[in-house]
Amino acid sequence: MPVKRYDSSIVDVAPLGQPLKFEFSGKVAKNRFYKASMAEDLASWNVEDLEERGIPTKELIELYRVWGENEWGVIATGNIDIEFDMLDAIGDSIITPECPFSGPRFEAFQELAKAATAHGSLVVGQVTHPGRQLAARIRKDTISASATQHPPKNGIEYAKPRAATKEDIARVVDGFAHAAEYLDKAGFDGIQLHGAHGYLIAQFLSETTNQRTDEYGGSITNRLRLVSEIAREIKRRVSPDFIVGIKVNSVEFQEKGIKPADTRILCETFQELGFDYVELSGGNHEDIGWGTKKDSTAKREAYFLEFVRDVVPHLSKTKKILTGGFRTTAAMVDALDILDGIGLGRPAAQEPRLAADILAGKVASAVQPVDGVVDDVWLSLSSAGSQMVQIVRGQEPFDLSNPKLAESFKKDLAAQIGKIIAANGSLEIRGFPELSDPDATSHPYGVPY
Ligand SMILES: Cc1cc2nc3c(=O)[nH]c(=O)nc-3n(C[C@H](O)[C@H](O)[C@H](O)COP(=O)(O)O)c2cc1C
Repeated sequence: MPVKRYDSSIVDVAPLGQPLKFEFSGKVAKNRFYKASMAEDLASWNVEDLEERGIPTKELIELYRVWGENEWGVIATGNIDIEFDMLDAIGDSIITPECPFSGPRFEAFQELAKAATAHGSLVVGQVTHPGRQLAARIRKDTISASATQHPPKNGIEYAKPRAATKEDIARVVDGFAHAAEYLDKAGFDGIQLHGAHGYLIAQFLSETTNQRTDEYGGSITNRLRLVSEIAREIKRRVSPDFIVGIKVNSVEFQEKGIKPADTRILCETFQELGFDYVELSGGNHEDIGWGTKKDSTAKREAYFLEFVRDVVPHLSKTKKILTGGFRTTAAMVDALDILDGIGLGRPAAQEPRLAADILAGKVASAVQPVDGVVDDVWLSLSSAGSQMVQIVRGQEPFDLSNPKLAESFKKDLAAQIGKIIAANGSLEIRGFPELSDPDATSHPYGVPY
């Protein structure tokens, strides 16, 4: 059965092949494609020995080698955490303030950077702290802007947060800054702060989670203080040509959540702070907003485009990248009228070659998953995860446009969820679903469906 792609009118893709210069660092991406961050769950993991966690493995490096040979202008890594036990997810890479600029962890990060940049892509490490979005099975307590616990969602119980003290905040600032220096020394081109999707930085930015009455809460200037301190400390420690970027929500779907008018102020501040780029996204664990629930979104393709129109004209130096929902070259080229780069997440797991194939004129759009996949966060997260594992194993990622394979994946996901429930909080259980349909694993990498 041939792969089904989104319909796209045929457009000149030359604008997507234009280099992109980052003003503050002076670094130049070879084109406008931005491989968005996707947590890979492929770093080392040890339940007992915390310091054995989060080292990039050969498999993780292989994944970046593959993206590195496929013409992505910028490749962002999945979340890198700054504590051994405050993780976005099991299997994330980790750099804590205690990690030295030498030894097996450092060498593994060096190898990853080398693999990703071997053909001229830039690589940025995305660094994060989960704050209140820490799963309670990883650790029972955590820090956040305020002591507002995340309600259980999709079967996940969240850790109990306390309002971060000044000492906690100093450790967070040091954690991000050390990670930046570490990545710089390991050969990365830059760092991206994860300030979106409801993680710690976003918890400080958003009034939903920040009820502080000190200098870190209240006015938007105060809510920006954490990220300003992080940015200044990073700039103090890294080389002048190191890219500093941030991912931030253009919108959160809660009453007191980030609104586009706030995003404008945030972005103007990011420019004053010397951020090379801002990647705009949306949503958080409570409502992620990746999908086409609204008809208008389906027609427009990129989920958050309507929210960023008022934001982007105010940025002259900081480059604007939008991620979420881009699938056709027609929409991507159109969006470059107001944006500088096009972020792609799930399509880069389905087709690591997508950027190269679009630029070579081989395809005009991404593979179109069967109905129901894109709007189902767990289904699309975990299918992209299983596809990343396939790439590492030398398999062509299974075709999500094929109803039989998509249906079989749903069963594999249900089986994986069953295993997690049966494990009753055990930290031994990790990983994306294993594929049971032999047709899902029968194509060697590079042999398309
Ligand atoms: C498997 C998977 C893991 C993800 N992990 C991260 C992450 O670590 N950091 C992040 O900022 N976004 C993460 N995302 C979100 C993507 O970067 C992107 O914002 C989202 O997939 C929407 O873009 P898309 O429609 O092109 O997939 C992840 C997405 C997927 C599918």
